[in-house]
Amino acid sequence: MANTATIEIDGKKYDFPLVKGTENEIAIDITKLRAATEGVITIDPGFKNTGSCESAITFLDGEKGILRYRGYSIDEVAENADFLEVAYLLIFGELPTKEQNDKFHEDIKAESYVDEDVKKIIEAFPKSAHPMGIISSLTSALTAFNPSSVNVESEEDMYKSVVRLLGKMPVLVAWTYRKKAGLPLDYGDNSLGYVENILKMMFKKPNGEYIQNKVLVDALDKLLILHADHEQNCSTSTVRIVGSSHAGLFASISAGISALWGPLHGGANQAVLEMLEAIQADGGDTKKYMAKAKDKNDPFRLMGFGHRVYKNFDPRARIIKKSADDVLSQLGIKEPILNIAEGLEQEALKDQYFVDRKLYPNVDFYSGIIYRAMGIPTDMFTVMFAIGRLPGWIAQWREMRLKKEPIGRPRQIYTGATERKFVPVDER
Ligand code: CMC
Repeated sequence: MANTATIEIDGKKYDFPLVKGTENEIAIDITKLRAATEGVITIDPGFKNTGSCESAITFLDGEKGILRYRGYSIDEVAENADFLEVAYLLIFGELPTKEQNDKFHEDIKAESYVDEDVKKIIEAFPKSAHPMGIISSLTSALTAFNPSSVNVESEEDMYKSVVRLLGKMPVLVAWTYRKKAGLPLDYGDNSLGYVENILKMMFKKPNGEYIQNKVLVDALDKLLILHADHEQNCSTSTVRIVGSSHAGLFASISAGISALWGPLHGGANQAVLEMLEAIQADGGDTKKYMAKAKDKNDPFRLMGFGHRVYKNFDPRARIIKKSADDVLSQLGIKEPILNIAEGLEQEALKDQYFVDRKLYPNVDFYSGIIYRAMGIPTDMFTVMFAIGRLPGWIAQWREMRLKKEPIGRPRQIYTGATERKFVPVDER
């Protein structure tokens, strides 16, 4: 195969090198395009054809439905590892040894507290505040409580920041939930595992013990692993681009949380459950909602369906669907909206509109059903996704900084008014 691609503009030919990834993906390297052509740029709204970086963290083949973290298949990782092991793998590039793994767990536990003054910030939020807004603000506030910036070149400094973020985030999440639920803000229990601690910190009542349920602990651990990274999605690209200005790690991640909030991205898990409930309340007529989703004059979209990259089954959706079935059957929960979800899935898989556009259920289609079985309120679903995505954001931020990527600053094609004379206000 050729090593270059030739672009012809006005009869003049320009050669650009091709970049090949380890999985044989090919890109045209246009870094010299503007200089060589004296001003020509490319345009690609939504970056549907644009690679923003070379990355060694996550491989995704949307046509074949493949997802791998640092070379390990998502199925194998979800089956065999725990969330913090996966976090270590994503951030530092290799699975931890037993010793590294134990130390990583212990170091994160040691950081699982936040400054008491954070309570004052939480107290100031109105009851109506969405948890994603609160958690984004609190993550940004962590900068104020940890003002020294991370020296990304120093392994030790980076390690400290990683354990700090992974330790403190669940406390912030639990407090966000507890404030909304009217429960006292409480600390966790370092004798517990990471996921058990999250559940206890969220749900322990002041007047009783919190009894762990292994089914829920395992299901949440798996959900966090499935969400841990997904290469250059909207929130991760946000983290990288904010970090490319050399903004700090916590500030960059706070921006990523805001990007994740949107219903076309992580906010889809909340939107799916609300959609399923609305269909149920409207009599459960899935055909009516399929028709709405296909009607171009109707803004309704089938939430939890479709993906920018997957043009095949989202491999995470398969694992989550099975996990949802296991959780509901082991807990003996009859969940009527699961029937609605299954009905929609069956109809969509044979519907020409969905088949032609390669729209399959994505990771968010079934995750809400598991969150609901855990007693997590709908508006907290995306916050749970954010805990899961944290290692991916950190890994991508670190990689971007270590590679000394230049500041992200796209160009544009201007389509506004050409130069005109200013008219003073009394003459307009
Ligand atoms: N329901 C109905 N039609 C759809 C849907 C849907 N959920 N998704 C895409 N389409 C149609 C769309 O109208 C378009 O049709 P046409 O070619 O006739 O104009 C075609 O499929 C291509 O869609 P697109 O919007 O150009 O595709 P995109 O890559 O820009 O958007 C998406 C991807 C995920 C934003 C979109 O599929 C969507 O809005 N899905 C629903 C929201 C959702 O579930 N988001 C979660 C994504 S996975 C979690 C994560 O991001 O981390």
